[in-house]
Amino acid sequence: INKENFQKDLIGWFEVEQRILPWRQDQDPYKVWVSEIMLQQTRVDTVIPYFNRFVEEFPTIEALSEADEDKVLKAWEGLGYYSRVRNLQAAVREVHEKYEGKVPDNLKEISALKGVGPYTAGAVLSIAYGVPEPAVDGNVMRVFSRILSIWEDIAKVSTRKIFEEAVRELISHENPSYFNQALMELGALICTPTSPSCLLCPVREHCHAFHEGTQHELPIKTKN
Ligand code: ADE
Repeated sequence: INKENFQKDLIGWFEVEQRILPWRQDQDPYKVWVSEIMLQQTRVDTVIPYFNRFVEEFPTIEALSEADEDKVLKAWEGLGYYSRVRNLQAAVREVHEKYEGKVPDNLKEISALKGVGPYTAGAVLSIAYGVPEPAVDGNVMRVFSRILSIWEDIAKVSTRKIFEEAVRELISHENPSYFNQALMELGALICTPTSPSCLLCPVREHCHAFHEGTQHELPIKTKN
């Protein structure tokens, strides 16, 4: 795989084909953070109206810090997994008090916040701050398992690190934000779980699974 050509093909496609989504309208770290927490266990189409209402009612770190928990829970109602929003408000309060309302721009500090795992940390750092950090979720593991022909079981907890290292090796340092978002978008629009549209894929010439015809066998996922 030629790194420069891969980055160019992937990011060039994203620049043309990306969906217009509300959290792509600016790079406010707070809004990127809220969107990534919502998107972790909820589909894009469902998240859109919740995201718009949430950032309208709580537009800043300060606003969410000072909000009553019942108001915040009410705004989350229907999204489920309410520990996500309790952790988010606790973490936002810590950012408000400890960092004067500025979301940390480094892995160590952002990862120490409640509810911020490696995926969320990488997403916020890359999208909001342009830090070349991987943001590996199930979709990115699916895309990368095919491109690089990685036959590791993505249901295993220890497998994410393997993919993080693979992404770290290939991530664009010019535009980490678009690189990571393009992988998410490719997983959503092209490199889908059961019917990948390889003939429309901007990186098919770089894709080992496409060349071998194994795209339907990857990723390996044992449980559920
Ligand atoms: N899924 C997770 N993060 C996303 C993002 N930033 N845009 C679209 N889908 C996503």
